Amino acid sequence: MLISFPLARRLVKPIKEMAAATHEIASGRYATRISSTSSDELGQLARDFNAMALILEKNEKERRQWIADISHELRTPVAVLQGEIEALLDGIRPVTPETISSLHAETLRLTHLVEDLYQLSLSDLGALTYRKENLDVLDVLRSSVQSYRAEFEKKHIALSLSIPEEAEAIVSADRGRLDQLFLNLLENSLKYTEIGGKLNVGAQFGNGALTIEFQDSEPGVCAEDRERLFERFYRVEGSRNRGSGGAGLGLAICKKIVDAHEGGISVHESPLGGLQVHIVFYQVEFKG
Ligand SMILES: Nc1ncnc2c1ncn2[C@@H]1O[C@H](COP(=O)(O)OP(=O)(O)OP(=O)(O)O)[C@@H](O)[C@H]1O
Ligand SMILES: [Mg+2]
Repeated sequence: MLISFPLARRLVKPIKEMAAATHEIASGRYATRISSTSSDELGQLARDFNAMALILEKNEKERRQWIADISHELRTPVAVLQGEIEALLDGIRPVTPETISSLHAETLRLTHLVEDLYQLSLSDLGALTYRKENLDVLDVLRSSVQSYRAEFEKKHIALSLSIPEEAEAIVSADRGRLDQLFLNLLENSLKYTEIGGKLNVGAQFGNGALTIEFQDSEPGVCAEDRERLFERFYRVEGSRNRGSGGAGLGLAICKKIVDAHEGGISVHESPLGGLQVHIVFYQVEFKG
């Protein structure tokens, strides 16, 4: 009795503390931590609890940041639209086909942004549906590149596609999403390559995997920025101010699409002086 009383106290105190901390976490106070971290099993449980609380706190912070960023990104185009419409209403700007077309372009940007946000939110929820079928990735790549040829010509960027003509690389994939992946990368190279530059798109096959590479000429992206390109809303300084600049969601979407196909995507320095995007698909059946 004399021995068991202090022992029971030693056990009860940390359990009480843990119960209190659990209530705190349950009511949303994720900064809560347990102080008693003895070297026994209870101590281990407390350390695990603290690790869990840290993750919850981090997730909550990211969620708040995501909402703050979305609000910020939506506010700018809406404010621009409002300003332009008010100028038309007040007669400061004349109603001409050009002013209407500029309003239209602004709504298109907004629609594009909302669509990208919606897609990312769906994939966060695990609700983005993929209709996979056995298809030829190279065929999708060829037609995506083809659809952008005219745009590249207009900007005098030499676009070359080097894949064996008859080759096929069959992968279980969603055609629409793959198309979106390639179009996002083409759009980036178009936007972020100087006039008169180059984009080489190539594909190689080896060890059952297909590697696709997009290599463009200047400007490049420094190593520090390259590490963050797949983050949502991340744009390299300079792209932010340019009229053509996007929201910084394209590469985050590309990563989601590649992940959903159990592939890999990474960015490197391009031998042509710009950015190189490297995509790998595994379990590919190669023909040709
Ligand atoms: N090919 C490239 N060459 C140089 N910089 C690039 C290239 N592709 C992307 N970047 C840089 O990476 C940033 C992020 O690209 P991402 O596609 O995610 O967003 P975005 O093009 O700015 O907007 P969005 O794609 O949402 O319209 C760009 O803002 C740009 O600074
Ligand atoms: Mg982009």
